[in-house]
Amino acid sequence: MVWWFYVPNIIFGEDALSELERINGSKAFIVTDKVINSLGLAEKVCRVFTEKQWEAAIWDGVEPDPKVSTVKAAAEAIKRFSADWIIAVGGGSVMDTAKAAWVLYEKPDVELHALTPFDELGLRTKAKLVCIPTTTGTGSEATKAIVIRDDETGRKFATINPELTPDIAILDPEFVVGLPKNLTAYTGMDALTHAVEGFVSVWKNDFSDGCSLQAVKMIFEWLPKSVEDLSDLEAREKMLIAACLAGMSFGNSQAALAHSLGHSMGSVLRTHHGMSVGMALPYTIEFNCIDNEDTAKLYAQLARMVGVSSKKPIDTGMQFAQAIREFMRKIGSPTSFKEAGIKKKDFNAGLENMVDFAMMDTSLTMNPRNTDSDEIRKMYKYMYDGTVIDF
Ligand SMILES: NC(=O)c1ccc[n+]([C@@H]2O[C@H](COP(=O)([O-])OP(=O)(O)OC[C@H]3O[C@@H](n4cnc5c(N)ncnc54)[C@H](O)[C@@H]3O)[C@@H](O)[C@H]2O)c1
Ligand SMILES: [Fe+2]
Repeated sequence: MVWWFYVPNIIFGEDALSELERINGSKAFIVTDKVINSLGLAEKVCRVFTEKQWEAAIWDGVEPDPKVSTVKAAAEAIKRFSADWIIAVGGGSVMDTAKAAWVLYEKPDVELHALTPFDELGLRTKAKLVCIPTTTGTGSEATKAIVIRDDETGRKFATINPELTPDIAILDPEFVVGLPKNLTAYTGMDALTHAVEGFVSVWKNDFSDGCSLQAVKMIFEWLPKSVEDLSDLEAREKMLIAACLAGMSFGNSQAALAHSLGHSMGSVLRTHHGMSVGMALPYTIEFNCIDNEDTAKLYAQLARMVGVSSKKPIDTGMQFAQAIREFMRKIGSPTSFKEAGIKKKDFNAGLENMVDFAMMDTSLTMNPRNTDSDEIRKMYKYMYDGTVIDF
């Protein structure tokens, strides 16, 4: 069977930004958000282009969990400027907006929600894409995925297409050194969830496996250090690399149940993506391990990378889930809805919507164990109080 493994050109390390001096073109359009713009990070990128006499512009209209209307506004701005390079400077929200706006800039008739992995888009006739992540989690700089929010329903939908893999990813630690503690923890949990889900997804392959194993090891080592000392440049650089490796993994194998549950939490309760998928991760590990020796063996392989092991794979898998909960407590990422401060009445009011959205989420199809809406409802209820999954 023929299979593919897509990754961008990756430039990493201190001063990786200088790679931009070497690209050819004349008009750079920088997509970012207001926070990143106010930190001067977009301006820093803009200067590289103006110093080499390019035309450059900054557009900072992205909001967290971007909507289709935001993507359309970005595409309009790119068209007015007629960019030959689109430069995303930001977290997953900015990078996904830039990727999706790029599609609409090149192919205005595409309906984003109808985009499939098999569509031949013919991108790169007008522009190419550089991603410079400012968070250490989504790995969107390395993936062919976009996650966008429907304006009317608020539902986040994820879609993939190989042509959406950015041309260049620049991993420069200076761009993440100012990331606050909670976002460092949450986005790091997103990376861990990608690495773990990429390793058990039904589309897993030998290339994604290699990336996942290294990413899990690095995240357990470097994420606590990033959280403890926000100015630790080495830890920041290692987390940028780990998040990108995790992106390379799940981008080429796909995410699974924790992402279905997490996307739906974000859609309904507006919780942060990384916090949501990270919270779901241990519960989904337990669910996938039960009565499933093959999947338990996969989790056991990951568990051994972080020093967790037991005689039976199922026990190791369950202990791995607990080790992840302990890890989350250490870095300050909530392990239950209750810990996240979600009120019971808000949880109850949103529950049926979350269940419906989770059932519609494409990540569900890649999970190694089939499930249904009753089990998903039950899983969310267990997640409210922090109860270990036993079904
Ligand atoms: N396409 C993919 O492969 C993929 C993978 C995972 C997640 N996602 C999507 O990415 C989005 C989440 O992205 P995210 O977790 O990076 O967060 P984000 O981009 O939504 O940013 C969260 C907040 O952090 C701020 N921020 C970003 N960088 C900062 C910095 N260096 N210093 C201070 N503040 C900073 C932003 O301004 C924003 O307010 C979600 O929509 C999620 O669904 C996409
Ligand atoms: Fe994610």
